[in-house]
Amino acid sequence: MSEPRQILVTSALPYANGSIHLGHMLEYIQTDMWVRYQKLRGNQCLYVCADDAHGSAIMLRAEKEGITPEQLIANVQAEHSADFADFLVDFDNFHSTHSEENRELSSLIYTRLRDAGHIATRSVTQYFDPEKGMFLADRFIKGTCPKCATEDQYGDNCEKCGATYAPTELKNPKSAISGATPVLRDSQHFFFKLPDFQAMLQQWTRSGTLQDAVANKLAEWLDSGLQEWDISRDAPYFGFEIPGEPGKYFYVWLDAPIGYMASFKNLCARRPELDFDAFWREGSETELYHFIGKDIVNFHALFWPAMLEGAGFRKPTAVNVHGYLTVNGAKMSKSRGTFIKARTYLDHLQPEYLRYYYAAKLGRGVDDLDLNLEDFVQKVNSDLVGKVVNIASRCAGFIHKGNDGVMVAGDAAPELSEAFLAAAPSIAEAYEARDFGRAMREIMALADRANAWIADKAPWSLAKQEGKQDEVQAICAQGINLFRQLVIFLKPVLPILAADAEAFLNVAPLTWNDHQSRLENHKLNPFKALMSRIEPAKVEAMVAASKEDLLAAEAKTAPAGNGELTKDPLSAEIEFDTFAAVDLRVALIVKAEAVPGADKLLQLTLDIGDERRNVFSGIKSAYPDPSQLEGRLTMMVANLKPRKMRFGVSEGMVMAAGPGGEEIYLLSPDSGAKPGQRIK
Ligand code: 2FM
Ligand code: ZN
Repeated sequence: MSEPRQILVTSALPYANGSIHLGHMLEYIQTDMWVRYQKLRGNQCLYVCADDAHGSAIMLRAEKEGITPEQLIANVQAEHSADFADFLVDFDNFHSTHSEENRELSSLIYTRLRDAGHIATRSVTQYFDPEKGMFLADRFIKGTCPKCATEDQYGDNCEKCGATYAPTELKNPKSAISGATPVLRDSQHFFFKLPDFQAMLQQWTRSGTLQDAVANKLAEWLDSGLQEWDISRDAPYFGFEIPGEPGKYFYVWLDAPIGYMASFKNLCARRPELDFDAFWREGSETELYHFIGKDIVNFHALFWPAMLEGAGFRKPTAVNVHGYLTVNGAKMSKSRGTFIKARTYLDHLQPEYLRYYYAAKLGRGVDDLDLNLEDFVQKVNSDLVGKVVNIASRCAGFIHKGNDGVMVAGDAAPELSEAFLAAAPSIAEAYEARDFGRAMREIMALADRANAWIADKAPWSLAKQEGKQDEVQAICAQGINLFRQLVIFLKPVLPILAADAEAFLNVAPLTWNDHQSRLENHKLNPFKALMSRIEPAKVEAMVAASKEDLLAAEAKTAPAGNGELTKDPLSAEIEFDTFAAVDLRVALIVKAEAVPGADKLLQLTLDIGDERRNVFSGIKSAYPDPSQLEGRLTMMVANLKPRKMRFGVSEGMVMAAGPGGEEIYLLSPDSGAKPGQRIK
């Protein structure tokens, strides 16, 4: 047998000034599943993380709340830790970048870089807020766009025309913090000489450390030449002062990745068998993996390996990059209730539902992952409840009733047993490669085979026949053995289901290799339901609560005691141009049908004069007999970008009023309107 691997794994450190949402969870869940897989295989795998606690945003937020930054980060750390724990993300350590370990390591790395000649200093001219007494980062300056003259644009780009510019080009600049007119001021800054590492990075980024798409993106930056990186900020700043440079602080992104090392160092202090140097020294044979989102690749695949190399530490074995989360095909939206906080989800739904859904949809690439809430309900219910748990619930009763809970010996389906054994290496390979989607597909294909075999044998019919008791017992024992193997394969994704199944199976915690053995002449514990179906109403309640979160947040940020009602986010003012850009048309409903497999959708064929459109609309609950809609006129948004859904492409949207459920009222024009007419 080969030696267990020694593996250190990290997820990106969340900022200590905001709540965790389902977009964050995509990363923590996938990392956790990979780590749990490694542990299940018997490898020594350590998973560390921390809050990213420094920077001016955190300093300013604490000031606004009237607390110290230390209090703010302590409050947020408690909230984050609870969210992660309740999503079953099992860190070996969750620390903070505002820690002694991080201060020491940041100083060490900086002084090594400086002593090796990799730090430069030069004067930088920047906007300074004379009222607040601080230099302003680009996002804290607002003014009029120099290209299109739109007011109230941020210091580096215009949301209206998309232009990018230097803050000094903005017209009528103002500090977003105090409202004062900023002045230009010089200050000495410290730079990390990234170009010193060009050759190393060129080689390292192409040495199997990155997915191809990521390496290709980096090649563009590498080929156009690397720039020195500004790693200092002036006081006031919440962070670590640069050794020997009073009033100068490390930029938050300098000490953030060092936070990975600091969290591990903190863990080593608690776990004497762990040797910090063995994991971090140059040439270490241990493995180091960072899981990150595609927005922070430059920090992890350029600056970070260069800092490590320059300071004499090992570089990462690989940086695993994932895409963003979308919900129902679009960016998470507060007003649609799809900006869902981790806690809001947990208030309504079990963590394992989301863990499974993410697993089922995650591949090795950097594509975005869509959480389609209808598909989520359907997939989890059909796969986990309908396929996996179903096997145990179909078989357990007969064993308890007919054989006092004891599983008989013997293999009633050798071919199936062989197929399960033969699938294990491929499932393992998929987990190792982070191709969780493939792993889930292969596991569910096995579950389908097991269910089909049991359905074919129909122990429920045999049980009613004389003299078939032995056969019933053989079938059900086989079913439970197959179920046990599926649980082992799913354990990295579904740790609670696995623990509950272990209790029912009356076995010690299962490891990966246990899939090679069977339970024979083995007494089971009573069977309890292992997982319940997702009720769509719970998902709806979660979306409604997410809208409420937004209203609560808005109420909190409204100036105290100003007597204003909180604005309905859906009623936010828009410019006339935005309204005029919407192509509203009268549409004739030519055909209206239910969509097989969708609880809420109707498929509409709409005639808008010169063409026909296919539109999916969530109005089924109000129109249980869709044919009643045929021949009726309604109004549609005709220039909505086509949206690919599970059932087909939706080419627009019909307009309806009402709170939802049965109370949905499709809008109609007065009689006389013609299909295709524009609504003005
Ligand atoms: O982008 C972010 O949310 C950062 N807080 C991630 C930091 S990861 C690491 F470098 F610390
Ligand atoms: Zn502009």
